[in-house]
Amino acid sequence: MNKAPLGVFDSGIGGLTVARALFERLPHESVIYFGDTARVPYGPKSPDTVRRYSGEILAYLLNRGVKAVVVACNTSTAHALGYLKERSTVPVVGVIEPGARAAVAATKTGTIGVIGTAGTVASGAYERAIKALRPDARVHSQPCPLFVPLVEEGWFEHPAAELIAREYLAPLQRAKVDVLVLGCTHYPLLKPLLARVMGPGVKLVDSAEETATAVARELERLDLLANGGSHDHRFVVSDDEPHFRKVGARFLGEKLKQVEVVPLG
Ligand code: DGL
Repeated sequence: MNKAPLGVFDSGIGGLTVARALFERLPHESVIYFGDTARVPYGPKSPDTVRRYSGEILAYLLNRGVKAVVVACNTSTAHALGYLKERSTVPVVGVIEPGARAAVAATKTGTIGVIGTAGTVASGAYERAIKALRPDARVHSQPCPLFVPLVEEGWFEHPAAELIAREYLAPLQRAKVDVLVLGCTHYPLLKPLLARVMGPGVKLVDSAEETATAVARELERLDLLANGGSHDHRFVVSDDEPHFRKVGARFLGEKLKQVEVVPLG
């Protein structure tokens, strides 16, 4: 029994999709969520910059006494997971390995599509994770940088979003992927649109849900579960608290009560 909170962080708002999945999967756990809204987006930034920002957030969360850290951001996981694990005194879980595991379990043909930010796709992290589990898999990756601002605008079903999705996903359709990994915090909100564009033969893998399952397993294995009692969720951002509160409610599926502002760096 361990009542210390879980630390969850993202470049901004998107990681609330992971927080939401954690709340559902682990209702007794308390979460401190940090969104780096002052420095979002991480997608187009260099690996060194993303590692530095992620390291600062890790130090902040460790200071707040978290018992484990969930890297909800795909770009941070892609560039910084190893770096964070080396520096952390508590377990660190990223979103890529769980997503890769689910993709490998779901594919029938071994042809897997991955969509993510420019940084995530350029890092090749999903491809490596998938191939470590299934060496003969064929992985087709596609950066979709315009999806992040579309989701932030709330344009989940807008004709512009559909046009852009058709353009981005055409190469993956031509490659005949039978699984599409949503390798970015924002993409679960586009699920109905992406499912429609890809068609019924393609299974969508949501890293948020898979990560929540992986975190539950890891907490159980390390005997760190809260096991009952009430939770206390905290939300912290590095800037622009009103926007986080407004758009964040859509990601989380409920209102955000208290949001603290803590500038880092
Ligand atoms: N959180 C980022 C990710 O999952 C998307 C937004 C950004 O580029 O910072 O990759």
